[in-house]
Amino acid sequence: MKPESIRKYRPFPPVSLPDRQWPDRTITQAPIWCSVDLRDGNQALPQPMSVEEKLEFFDVLCGVGFKQIEVGFPSAADTEFNFLRRLIDEDRIPDDVTIQVLVQTRDHLIRRTFEAIDGAKRAIVHIYNSTSPLQRRVTFGDASREQIRDIAVEAAKLVKELVPTIPRTEVVLQYSPESFSDTELDFALECCNAVIDIWQPTAEKKMIVNLPDTVQWTTPNIHADMIEWMCRHLKNRESLLVSLHTHNDRGTGTAATELGLMAGADRVEGTLFGNGERTGNLDIVNVALNMNSHGIPTGLDFSDLPTLRRVYERVTRMTVGERHPYVGELVFTAFSGSHQDAIKKGFDRRERETKENPDIPWGVPYLTIDPQDVGRSYEAIIRINSQSGKGGIAYVLDREHGFDLPKTMHPQVGSYIYGHADAEGRELSNDEIGELFFEKFANLGSPMNLVDFELDHTEKKGEVVCHAAIELNGETVRGEGRGNGPINAFVHFLEEAGHKDFKVTDYRSHALRGGSDADSAAYVQIQSLVDSSLVWGCGIDPSIEMAGLKALVSAWNLQHAEA
Ligand code: KIV
Ligand code: ZN
Repeated sequence: MKPESIRKYRPFPPVSLPDRQWPDRTITQAPIWCSVDLRDGNQALPQPMSVEEKLEFFDVLCGVGFKQIEVGFPSAADTEFNFLRRLIDEDRIPDDVTIQVLVQTRDHLIRRTFEAIDGAKRAIVHIYNSTSPLQRRVTFGDASREQIRDIAVEAAKLVKELVPTIPRTEVVLQYSPESFSDTELDFALECCNAVIDIWQPTAEKKMIVNLPDTVQWTTPNIHADMIEWMCRHLKNRESLLVSLHTHNDRGTGTAATELGLMAGADRVEGTLFGNGERTGNLDIVNVALNMNSHGIPTGLDFSDLPTLRRVYERVTRMTVGERHPYVGELVFTAFSGSHQDAIKKGFDRRERETKENPDIPWGVPYLTIDPQDVGRSYEAIIRINSQSGKGGIAYVLDREHGFDLPKTMHPQVGSYIYGHADAEGRELSNDEIGELFFEKFANLGSPMNLVDFELDHTEKKGEVVCHAAIELNGETVRGEGRGNGPINAFVHFLEEAGHKDFKVTDYRSHALRGGSDADSAAYVQIQSLVDSSLVWGCGIDPSIEMAGLKALVSAWNLQHAEA
């Protein structure tokens, strides 16, 4: 902002709470969760959900494990009312799920809300009125504190009167001093205590006091101070469930909620992926998975985030950003070479260690959780562009194409493939990486081509003889060579044919995962006797013996093509 713009703004006053307790606390258990997707989330959508979409979303929320779901604002519109009636009349609400309905502190709206919930097994009636000085001044035309408190009191009385009129429904009561986030604490307390006085909750029949961070004006620590202050001063605390409802204007919805829980709150309202007014409501998935990542069970099942995200995107017509915590397309992906190397090492080590102890704690660099625990495959973890390194490329070749390259081959293959990505200036797909590897390093037939090879045992123990033919520069050369194995025999055949400028320095082979069951991959490293340079080649063949020979010819071709 420009200085003249900045002058418009003021610091947010801190809370005087010198003996605050929350900074020394940790989160050890999950709160009660309440999804407000179908209300706060829905009312923020450019195109609100249809009744059918809301019904589908409701089922999804139940499937995730929410036991409290704010289903709407039934007095606000007929579609909201009808949706609620369908839930109740079609018996769609699981017995262990409590629906919640929101209503302003206005007489006729409250009456209509009670009509809407009649017949539900259990429902939370959530009334709210705005309490902040800004709202009192601007929205309510300089209303006094008393006038605002009385609005809450009158509504609370009416609600109390209406509860016995729907005896089939167990009603739980909730009050929100809306705009709590910039309400003077003593006044928020006055309003809440006035409602508590009327509703007379008990430890057996608690009421919910929801303290909304309606608009985030300040840092999460001050929010936590406000919550701790309220928890200490509210009347009859043991008869209350203190609830958080953070929005995300400053991008700190998650932090404010976590600190608010440390400050004593019992319950959290929010939405999947943080949909909601302006920058959104609290992202419940984020907070719940943060807890899971510290070993805390939450009662919410986010083990298939890709499916959840697809349904969410379809019914809300919102999109989830690529960097969105836990669910974004790229959040488990490393492009950078050093990250890829560390991740590959982490996975390799974990694979070894879990064989001995399947319960070792998670510990892979750069990955706060195992992507598979939220339904992501390992496929996307390492993606290759010009920032990538040899470890990442080896990882893709291994995981996607089944090539377990010898470690000393990684630099040669890596520099070729990321050089290609650099030249192209784009990311390479896993298939392209496989193709590039194959074209450049495997089964090379030029300038030398292996056209024939047969192996016999000789009368000498441990010795074999090969009868081989190669094509080189348009000429076919036939001959034989002896050795202690096929590669050794073939090297001697090449020496006999005059190719004495190299020696074999390393050899590996394995069955090729992912390819045809019958295929083997072999890797041969040769060293030039002219300049000592080292080159790896790869061979693929149903016979492990032929794979080795093809690897040797490939290495030879690479060496001689580069010379
Ligand atoms: O953000 C808010 O303050 C609300 C209230 C109605 C709880 O959504
Ligand atoms: Zn809200």
